[in-house]
Amino acid sequence: MKLLALSLLVAFSAQAQQTLEATGRWQHRPVGTALTPPMGWSSWNAFRVDITEQKVLDSAKVIVDSGLAKAGYRSINIDDGWWLKRRSSDGRLLVRTGLFPSADAGAGKDSSLRPFTDRIHAMGLKAGLYTDIGRNACSQAYDADSPNLPEGTHAEREVGLMGFMKQDVALFFGEWNFDYLKVDGCGLSSYGRERPHVASGQYREFKPTIVEGSINQSDIEGTKKLYAGLRQALHEVRPRGDYVLSVCLWGTVNVRSWGQDYGTMWRSSRDIWKGFAQMVHNFDTVATREFYAGPGRWNDPDMLEIGNGDFGDAHLTEARTHLGLWAIVAAPLMIGTDLSKVSPAIIDILKAPEVVAINQDPAGHQGVLAYADSDRQILVKTLADGPEGNRKAVLLFNRTSAPAKFTLTAEHLKMDAAAPIALRDAWKRADAGTFVGKREFELQAREALLFTASGKHALSRGYYVSERPGSVYVARDGIRALEQDPVVYRALASWSATDNGGTRPAYAGWGGPRADSTPYDQALSVQRRAFRHGIGVLADSRLQVQVAPGSQRFMASVGVDDSTRGKHAAVSFEVWGDGRRLASTGPMAFDQPARELGADLRGVALVELVVRQHGADPAGPVVVTWGEARIE
Ligand code: GAL
Repeated sequence: MKLLALSLLVAFSAQAQQTLEATGRWQHRPVGTALTPPMGWSSWNAFRVDITEQKVLDSAKVIVDSGLAKAGYRSINIDDGWWLKRRSSDGRLLVRTGLFPSADAGAGKDSSLRPFTDRIHAMGLKAGLYTDIGRNACSQAYDADSPNLPEGTHAEREVGLMGFMKQDVALFFGEWNFDYLKVDGCGLSSYGRERPHVASGQYREFKPTIVEGSINQSDIEGTKKLYAGLRQALHEVRPRGDYVLSVCLWGTVNVRSWGQDYGTMWRSSRDIWKGFAQMVHNFDTVATREFYAGPGRWNDPDMLEIGNGDFGDAHLTEARTHLGLWAIVAAPLMIGTDLSKVSPAIIDILKAPEVVAINQDPAGHQGVLAYADSDRQILVKTLADGPEGNRKAVLLFNRTSAPAKFTLTAEHLKMDAAAPIALRDAWKRADAGTFVGKREFELQAREALLFTASGKHALSRGYYVSERPGSVYVARDGIRALEQDPVVYRALASWSATDNGGTRPAYAGWGGPRADSTPYDQALSVQRRAFRHGIGVLADSRLQVQVAPGSQRFMASVGVDDSTRGKHAAVSFEVWGDGRRLASTGPMAFDQPARELGADLRGVALVELVVRQHGADPAGPVVVTWGEARIE
């Protein structure tokens, strides 16, 4: 009976997640705890599988001694390469004690990473570990020549979570006392029968349920189910939620849309590496996903490469750009270099207090694109109000290899064009003057300038919903057919060459709601009336918006966007407050003027913005605009 009730509840809540009907309660349930983006160090970008306990401890020591820990980098994460085998008698995972000597508990005793985590905890740090949601890990598929791969029979080498979820999670978070777990997905993607390591009989076949590059061949629901099991197992071992779960599915299987419900953070793209173009690619995969992140849920463009290659000592501009970009989009900051070897200049960049403070701002809003062309971008991130009142962080990014001119305007900042705006340079930690209306900048090749800006808000009262994306939960995006996002820079992968047909758009999520843009990256416009501020979304959608206490009124100018694909079906706009319908438009069609929609918000904590489509539209999705959506 209890079981039945539980499964009904689960079925109901899964449905409630996607229904168009307002639920009246904030639907995001955090997985683990990270009110600001997680920060730390991880072994992978520095050492790949050539990892030892000593190397990890050496970097941990620098983390403490150099002040990086004080700056916030506290999680010390072991990535792939730590395991020896899964013991066949009882399924217990054994540590490769040759590499992790403290795990050797002596003859006849089980190896244990507890001495390691105790040591890390005694340093005032947190400890992270790595595993895979499938049977096998990534290194077994991609680092086949490494001497550090799991050993033994097929079953002994199956070190991933599949079939051992509860046991492994209890080991990692109970007995071993880790605080952070990264869960990769190669077990689901890289053990098809055609792979050499499977064809040779070395590993058991697992028919891929994640097909990189093909969203339609990937099993989205099956993947979610596995991560739901993991979420449950974690909840049982750590009911207080004192952990971080990092979902690593490289932006495949539409994880950019559902990651927030299954992890504390989720990778939005393939692996970063130390080339500038790859870093830009990774950045692009989060830059348009502002409504999918917020306190407790973070888009993850991957670990930092600062200190390596294009971001090393000879390239401090690029190193600063990399950190500035990760700061403005509130990305997790995981250092990925051998800290025992880096220069003081790199440490200083990583520590930059005002840059890290922008990343760690307690309001937890991701920066929003205020200007973009293929070469230049301006992103603006709303910060928690300080004594100066209305504050934003703003980043100007020159993506090219030549100097470039920028004009920053008050409108980019959603500030009053007639009042002074004070800038402070986050890198120089110095005031950078005030301007009225606009200001010109010239940036060096690959440079990103990062400022905080204080000024009078463009609205005499209140704010635009699009400037507080962390207060929005996408309960239903209106997407019917998944499509890959074409606006991500298509860099050549480090492991690839031009001997194939090209690097294709790879990540589903195209058509998701956007701040100050349509879902397909057009300017917002209803019957030729342009809106610089607002929300663009597809019809048959529901957005939840947490409103600040004391809010009085919601206002917007709504209609079918001029860029719509479907031009035939009518839509109606509804505003709900705490589960009650407050206002609606009735049916509206393409090429009708925007209608004003207002709702009294006194006493309301949760607004839901619903767009209902009336009938099918054979031409495609109906694109709608909540123009100037704002809260007074
Ligand atoms: C990849 C993952 C990397 C690293 C590696 C380990 O799938 O994206 O960040 O964890 O596996 O083999």
